[in-house]
Amino acid sequence: MSDEANTESWRIEQIASDPAEIKRRHDANRQAWNEGARHYTSEIETSAEFLREARSNVHPIERKNLEAYGPLSAWCDTAIHLQCAGGRDTLSLAVEGARRVIGVDISDVMIENARELSRRSGISARWYRCDIIETPHTLDATADLVYTGRGAVCWIHDIDAWASVVARLLKPGGVFSLYDGHPFQNMIREGCSSLEFASGARYFRSAGSGIGWSEQYIGRLDGIDPAEESRKYERSWTIAEIVNAVIGAGLVIDRIGEHPEDFWEPFPELPLEQRERIPNTFSLCARKPG
Ligand SMILES: C[S@@+](CC[C@H](N)C(=O)[O-])C[C@H]1O[C@@H](n2cnc3c(N)ncnc32)[C@H](O)[C@@H]1O
Repeated sequence: MSDEANTESWRIEQIASDPAEIKRRHDANRQAWNEGARHYTSEIETSAEFLREARSNVHPIERKNLEAYGPLSAWCDTAIHLQCAGGRDTLSLAVEGARRVIGVDISDVMIENARELSRRSGISARWYRCDIIETPHTLDATADLVYTGRGAVCWIHDIDAWASVVARLLKPGGVFSLYDGHPFQNMIREGCSSLEFASGARYFRSAGSGIGWSEQYIGRLDGIDPAEESRKYERSWTIAEIVNAVIGAGLVIDRIGEHPEDFWEPFPELPLEQRERIPNTFSLCARKPG
C-alpha cells in the first residue's frame, strides 16, 4: 500500500466511517478481486496436486502459534477461514488436522476457484461468498478456530465490525489466529532497493485506493485493458487499532508477535539484512472466554 501519494493509479483516501461508504468500498473490492482472482484460476491444478500429496500451505509462524494449543487434530473440529481466497490455505487446515473447514470470501471468482480446488483435491469444505462482515449467523458459535490473514485486514474498512464477526463465530474457548502484513511495512516503497519511505506514507489513519496490481503480486491481468481495471480500496490499521478491536470484541489475547519474516516479496531488490530491519509481519492469537 501507499506506494505514491496521488499518482495516476494510486490516491490517498479519507478514512471511511459512514457505513454506506464502507459498504461501497467493500463492494468495489469484490469487483476488483473478481478480476484479480482470474489470475489464480490457472493455478488450481497445481494447488490440487499439492493438497493431494497432503502438503500444507499454512505458514510456519502460524503453525507454531497454533501448535501452542496442541495438535489441531486434538482440538479443532471446525475451522472457519475468513477471506479464504481460492481455498488453498483453508484446505491446508484440513491437512493440518481440522476435521471440518469452511471458507468465506467476498469474491465470486475466488469462491468458484475454491469449490473447484476442493473438488479436485478431494478435500471437502463449505464455502460462503459474502462480505465477511455479513458472514451468516447460522455459523455463530460453531468455530473452534477462526483463521485469517496474509493480506486480509487491509481490505476491511471497519475493524470493530471485523473483530465482532470473529468473536461471534467462535465457540466459547475457541481460538482466533491472525498472521498478516505489519502496518509499518506499508510505509516502505514497494520494489525499493534500499530502505526508503513510500511517498505520502503515513502510519496513522491511512487509507488509499488504486488501480492495477503490484508487479510483486498479481501484476498485469491477461485480457483486461489496464484502463478498464476496477479501483480497489485499502486501509492500513495500526497494531493498536487491531489489538483494541480484538479486546473490544471480548476476546482474550494470548500472544502477539512482530516478525521480520514475510509471506510475499514486496521488496525483492532489498538486501535481506535491510529487509529484516523492519517488522514485515505480525501475528496474534486470542481466545473467546468460556
Ligand atoms: C490477499 S487475499 C487473501 C489470501 C489468503 N491469505 C489466502 O491465500 O488464503 C485477500 C482476499 O480477501 C478477500 N476480501 C477482500 N475484502 C473482503 C471482504 N470484505 N469480505 C470477504 N472477503 C474479502 C478478497 O476477495 C481476497 O480473496
